[in-house]
Amino acid sequence: MPLPTIKELLKSGAPSKGAAARGWIKTRRDSKALSFAELNDGSCRENLQVVFSAENGDFSAVLPQLVTGASVEIKGDLVPSPGAGQKLEMQAREVKIYGGCDPEAYPIQKKKTSDEFLRTVAHLRPRTNKYAAMLRIRAELAYAVHSYFRNNGFTYVHTPIFTASDAEGAGQMFAATAFDLTRLAGIPKTEAGEIDFSRDLFGKKVGLTVSGQMEGEALALALGKIYTFGPTFRAENSNTYRHCAEFWQIEPEMAFYELEDDMELAEDFIKSITKGVLENCPSDMELFAKFVEPALMDNLKNITENKFERLQYTDAVKLLEPENARFDLKVKWGVDLASEHERFLVENYFKKPVIMYNKPKEVASFYMKLNDDGRTVRGMDVLVPRIGELVGGSERENRLDVLEGRMRGLKMKVDDYQWFLDLRRYGSVPHSGFGLGFERMMMLVTGISNIRDVSAFPRVPGYAEF
Ligand code: 4AD
Ligand code: MG
Repeated sequence: MPLPTIKELLKSGAPSKGAAARGWIKTRRDSKALSFAELNDGSCRENLQVVFSAENGDFSAVLPQLVTGASVEIKGDLVPSPGAGQKLEMQAREVKIYGGCDPEAYPIQKKKTSDEFLRTVAHLRPRTNKYAAMLRIRAELAYAVHSYFRNNGFTYVHTPIFTASDAEGAGQMFAATAFDLTRLAGIPKTEAGEIDFSRDLFGKKVGLTVSGQMEGEALALALGKIYTFGPTFRAENSNTYRHCAEFWQIEPEMAFYELEDDMELAEDFIKSITKGVLENCPSDMELFAKFVEPALMDNLKNITENKFERLQYTDAVKLLEPENARFDLKVKWGVDLASEHERFLVENYFKKPVIMYNKPKEVASFYMKLNDDGRTVRGMDVLVPRIGELVGGSERENRLDVLEGRMRGLKMKVDDYQWFLDLRRYGSVPHSGFGLGFERMMMLVTGISNIRDVSAFPRVPGYAEF
């Protein structure tokens, strides 16, 4: 039978006789007359302190088994704690061991272990204070996302994971097939000797979605304001602190929104979910401020309290060019700005988040609306300290002839995208949207510096364990 969680027990604050708690032993220490164990069940950062006294029973046989990592149920009395640090403690009367744990072999030791090591035991690292706190914050952040959109009139939609549309046109889709790739000889071929995807499960070549945007546009042009929140995949071999092959993306899409409205929404959204986590996870956030990123609370204040700078790409280039000596990639008008430039603007120059917009069409996605200057598009990126790009979005090209011309110019197979063009054929409206990388948002709110440590089981180049 389920019991109240330790979080619930501690929150109620009420002493009670005949209470019970289950969880894993964090530590145990023995003094002459008493033994103390710290019990944690993952419901909150705080442990339940359990006190074993000879007055309440003979624990001599069971105490040696109460080692770090062992799983137990303790029955006893919840009483006000004389010790510092907790209001209540449990006076144990009965102990049941569920599963023992060999302290020599258990990889999660009390002493500080490195993030690199913990990635090799990702199935056990949620038992550490830091990763449990990260996962609870992740859940709260997801909750804050849904409540923001729900409170602002958006409809939550689900877009497909298998898709034939490369939404970014960047050729980073993972292929997906039902063919048995371990038996190459058995895969159907065309006369030209190429794989015959018309005989694959979907009757065509498909992949894992890089973004729900295109389907999201179809839904926004029916429902008005929608958002997706789901996994997206990129087969880019980027081995960096901020790239994953699998990451979650939040993608709102709004009919009748222009670029300025899109920027306003992105700023308000980021501020709101940041505040949500600060309000709902004070104790877990304190852990990160104390042990992971000492400047965390100041950094988050910087996000929630400042108006994000609006900066045109052309003006960004003017600011960056004189600084070229410090950059690996030299800036001139037309280059796609890299993380070193983004971080310079945000961390050194403006010292607050920046929304950069109107970038050259050559470095922009095909669907971004062309400006009247014919050279730049109505795209925007939200850049934040430590991470660089957190959000990418745009006003969408809603003129059929312009969009089609651009797709042809990029040698896209226009026939495959007729459904997307239909959205411009039938009742086209100005519309805009953006994508926020959920893992990058997690890095921002926790101060964790590597994207491998904000998912339970990250997927990055060379690593798909568990
Ligand atoms: O800038 P991106 O590529 O934009 C899109 O996919 C648009 N279709 C979104 C839209 O307008 N609906 O990706 C959006 C965000 C980035 O700003 C970044 O935060 C995150 O997704 N992102 C990644 N996060 C982790 N690992 C990767 N490999 C990422 N690539 C993008
Ligand atoms: Mg982008």
